[in-house]
Amino acid sequence: MNIGILTSGGDCPGLNAVIRGAVRKGIRQYGYSFSAIRDGWRGLLEDDIHPLHMVDVRGIGARGGTILGTSRTHPYSGGGPERMREVMAERSIDAVIAIGGEGTLAGASRLADDEGLPVVGVPKTIDNDLDNTDYTFGFDTAQEIATEAIDRLRTTAESHHRCMVLEVMGRNVGWIALQSGMAGGAHAILIPEFPVGYEQICEWVRSAWDRGRAPLVVVAEGFVPEDLDDQVSEAGLDKHGRVRLGGIGNHLAPIIEERTGLETRAVTLGHLQRGGSPTAYDRVLATRLGMAAVDLCHDAGWGQMASLTGTDIIRVPMAEAVDRLKFVPQHRWDEVQVLLG
Ligand code: F6P
Repeated sequence: MNIGILTSGGDCPGLNAVIRGAVRKGIRQYGYSFSAIRDGWRGLLEDDIHPLHMVDVRGIGARGGTILGTSRTHPYSGGGPERMREVMAERSIDAVIAIGGEGTLAGASRLADDEGLPVVGVPKTIDNDLDNTDYTFGFDTAQEIATEAIDRLRTTAESHHRCMVLEVMGRNVGWIALQSGMAGGAHAILIPEFPVGYEQICEWVRSAWDRGRAPLVVVAEGFVPEDLDDQVSEAGLDKHGRVRLGGIGNHLAPIIEERTGLETRAVTLGHLQRGGSPTAYDRVLATRLGMAAVDLCHDAGWGQMASLTGTDIIRVPMAEAVDRLKFVPQHRWDEVQVLLG
């Protein structure tokens, strides 16, 4: 069997570990060969495909980004499934492992279930918003980077007696903000799932200040305060018409400063959360998922993806994973309240 591998959507630490895990297991256990599909679905639609050998994956498990490149090209653009079928036949590709987030897996599931293409999936995203898997690789690295940022902001904030606002990624869910906020001891954690107003935020800030602390606020990029109608997007839309979130930290800082009288600065962590080396946890999870994806191909498990349940890697239909986002649940929000302010 010749397996094509692609990475699609935003990059994420651990993608290379998946590729390495898949290639090593596929070659060593099954004697398969592999093809590198460049830049996600674009490579499959435009026939930008090259052989992928064991030597190509040597030592890449610790490296961030993706050696295959990525893009947000839609699988139904530029000839869609028919064109993919042609390219796969020309290149003798028998199966495709698509590594991606919600958008990629939704596309992969349609290609497998509706078009009959031999596609399996591996879930990835720093946002941790995919359902039907306990965690996605990349998330642990992102929460670690965000936590380190909080720790670093704390020492400068304390020295200057300031309030600091850290904006983290996560799109429409608050997992990175919640986890890093808990780990870093933030005084206010603001997430899209549970909107609060300016007054509540300032109350948390004042309460921390009154106890002699330099207040730290962590805000998820998708958070909408009760006082606003929409998410903040300083950079507008990308070329695919997707809203580029970001700017809520800069929006909140002057409001906090004005209402509390405390000097307040905002930092947007941005793509630093996606770059660099994955944590050990993410490397292991990614490697296991890559190996499981090859097993899925071996068993013709088209339309399924490898997923984490507890400590086990299992198989689930991709269609179920993209049905709805995995939001921070009420009990996690209730639990954190006692730590705020
Ligand atoms: O989905 C991962 C993610 O990093 C989100 O947290 C963020 O909103 C988005 O991608 C940013 O995408 P881009 O790199 O295309 O600006």
